[in-house]
Amino acid sequence: MAEDNRFITSTKNSSDLEIENSLRPRSMEEYVGQEKIKQTLEVYIKAAKKRNDTLDHVLLYGPPGLGKTTLSHIIANEMGSQLKITSGPAIEHAADLAAIVTNLNRGDVLFIDEIHRLNKSVEEILYPAMEDFALDFIVGKGPSAKNMRLKIQPFTLIGATTRAGMITGPLRDRFGVICRLELYTPKELMIIIKRSSKILNIEIDDDACLCLASRSRGTPRLANRLLKRVRDFAEVIGEGKITKSIAEKSLKLMEIDELGLDFVDRRILESIIKKFGGGPVGLDTLSAATGEDNATIEDVYEPYLLQLGFIARTPRGRVALEKAYKHLKIDISDEKKKMLEIYKTEENNGQN
Ligand SMILES: Nc1ncnc2c1ncn2[C@@H]1O[C@H](COP(=O)(O)OP(=O)(O)O)[C@@H](O)[C@H]1O
Ligand SMILES: [Mg+2]
Repeated sequence: MAEDNRFITSTKNSSDLEIENSLRPRSMEEYVGQEKIKQTLEVYIKAAKKRNDTLDHVLLYGPPGLGKTTLSHIIANEMGSQLKITSGPAIEHAADLAAIVTNLNRGDVLFIDEIHRLNKSVEEILYPAMEDFALDFIVGKGPSAKNMRLKIQPFTLIGATTRAGMITGPLRDRFGVICRLELYTPKELMIIIKRSSKILNIEIDDDACLCLASRSRGTPRLANRLLKRVRDFAEVIGEGKITKSIAEKSLKLMEIDELGLDFVDRRILESIIKKFGGGPVGLDTLSAATGEDNATIEDVYEPYLLQLGFIARTPRGRVALEKAYKHLKIDISDEKKKMLEIYKTEENNGQN
């Protein structure tokens, strides 16, 4: 997909690259939120260090921009290990992966981003590598062919994915630690925005900070992106300092509403309500109707809409809930309201 001027995206854009490295927390203390995950990992890291052993393989999953890559850097730091970074789509052939793992030193951390996109033949090489720190391959052909096993150095694999559901069972089973990252609360995002504004030397007051935090869809990457864009506005329409009024004006210009929804969110919700009578509507149909691809809807837009209680995922598709009608100021009949009651208790059942 061509990079347009969208604010909400599933991947980093070029301006994120500039700032992300400087903003990335380097230690567990600096890493805001995700308390349960931090506690779990700290225990595992301590235990591994005490035994002088490598850390168990870790699977991190959750929507884009929540801190998976950041966390893998921190894990490697805390283990005092080298981090090697690659991604599912970058490893095309089994031999590519074999080359990577044979070059690892004892205790190294190998980070595979988008691990759900590994192809089958590569994944099969990974099983014995993860389990026995060995590579299995066949030498020769026909009746004289032999199974060979090559030992490799013990290492830690960290896999990251936006959806755990897309990982095959056998791969998933080989991770000792599985962590699901949650969307951040506005309070946590405020801490992140404050920290980033210090690093980037941006003046921002508390009200403005809360305003940005509550429109960042629970996502640190978006919070940082908002901060940077609003700073640009502040320099043009104000005196550089971000105040609440400047923040609100800039967000209005960006067509981001008070909940952080943009035109795509609204298009998705309006589609469900107006074109499909409120749903249920299947993901493929919704994707065709809105012109957004399935993965973007599932990874980027849905998690936040589900969290807001604007939509529900049912076996038959997506349903718009009463709150969505209210937010879009679309009338809803009492009959419909009653029908939607049943989804209230199941609101988040569909999430991964
Ligand atoms: N827990 C956190 N505390 C502070 N900043 C964070 C946190 N998680 C993510 N960030 C910020 O958000 C940016 C995106 O995080 P990243 O790890 O690249 O997300 P992911 O890999 O899950 O897509 C990072 O550069 C970092 O500045
Ligand atoms: Mg990442």
